[in-house]
Amino acid sequence: MIKKAVLPVAGLGTRFLPASKAIPKEMLPIIDKPLVQYAVEEAVNVGINEIVFITSPEKFSIKNHFKKNKEIETKLIKSGKNDLAMAINPEIFSKVSFYYVNQKKQNGLGDAILHAESIIGNSPFAILLPDDLFISKKSCLQQLIDAYALNKSSAIAVNVIDKNNIHKYGVIKPKERTSEIIKIEDIIEKPNAIDAPSDLAVCGRYILNSSIFKHLKSVKPDISDEIQLTDAIKSMLSEEEVYGVLYDR
Ligand code: G1P
Repeated sequence: MIKKAVLPVAGLGTRFLPASKAIPKEMLPIIDKPLVQYAVEEAVNVGINEIVFITSPEKFSIKNHFKKNKEIETKLIKSGKNDLAMAINPEIFSKVSFYYVNQKKQNGLGDAILHAESIIGNSPFAILLPDDLFISKKSCLQQLIDAYALNKSSAIAVNVIDKNNIHKYGVIKPKERTSEIIKIEDIIEKPNAIDAPSDLAVCGRYILNSSIFKHLKSVKPDISDEIQLTDAIKSMLSEEEVYGVLYDR
């Protein structure tokens, strides 16, 4: 069973400026909830009960958001607003442990994930990039968990992306493509459209074996001096199978 998830939320959010100047981008509202809550709910709904945020000290509002607020809850209940009391302290979070690990320097997604190693330990775990919001009948994470259960191998979500946008993603080279669960031969981070090995781009959900940490420690930083998760997955492929799951909406 997958019980732990890592959510990297330390990024500066430059793409969302000026909205993210004083408010972390993960706290920007989508309808009535902050963006990050969707990813947390997706994780909790598949049975995850330990959530590790890789964050930065400026993003204290994320911690405040997931902390139980007894004071407001009591006030709301007193004034008969029980539905709102439930909305601020959702029942589904009551058995979840939230951890916050500071990433001092922005050294890339791979480095962020490495910060979770001591909490994750030796079990397979989930990664959710909260910027990527997926709404579907069966959640994207559940689809990965099903694939993991089938193959006992790491599984990452992929989507078909057009040529004009493929350079923004990690892209897989499929080995065998018989169903929506695809054995991966190779993976490359943000290739030029012309070098992209397929149109299957990694979207922000992963179930990885804990062996990823060994690979994260051995890969070299990229030209921006960042440790890329994609490079560690590529290194992983030399020792074990990894599957792409063509996410079904
Ligand atoms: C990250 C990953 C990339 C993946 C993308 C999905 O990139 O490095 O492989 O395709 O998330 O959103 P970022 O968007 O953080 O630059």
